[in-house]
Amino acid sequence: MNFVDLLASSELTEGARVVVRAEGRELAVVRVDGIAYAIDNVCPHHHGELGRGDLQGHHLYCPLHAWCFDVRDGKAFFPQGARVECFEVKEEGGRVLARRMLK
Ligand code: FES
Repeated sequence: MNFVDLLASSELTEGARVVVRAEGRELAVVRVDGIAYAIDNVCPHHHGELGRGDLQGHHLYCPLHAWCFDVRDGKAFFPQGARVECFEVKEEGGRVLARRMLK
């Protein structure tokens, strides 16, 4: 599966949360400690936009009811057992690229 171009690396500053539409879906793209991460933007609870929520460390909080997802693997810190899809991210030529992780 090919990587898809998301945005310029310069647009994703430290601590930023950016919602990006790619291949018919929305991703929440963030940068923590210099590393870019991407997870599905849609909260599995009631479809809150994760990319509009607070980012604390690697934890991204849904802005509606504060479910909290780890951007490194998409697993919920709260509540346990919930998760969103997590994407493999790389930066090349000043661009942030992502692709679905192989299962
Ligand atoms: S919609 Fe995300 S926690 Fe409720």
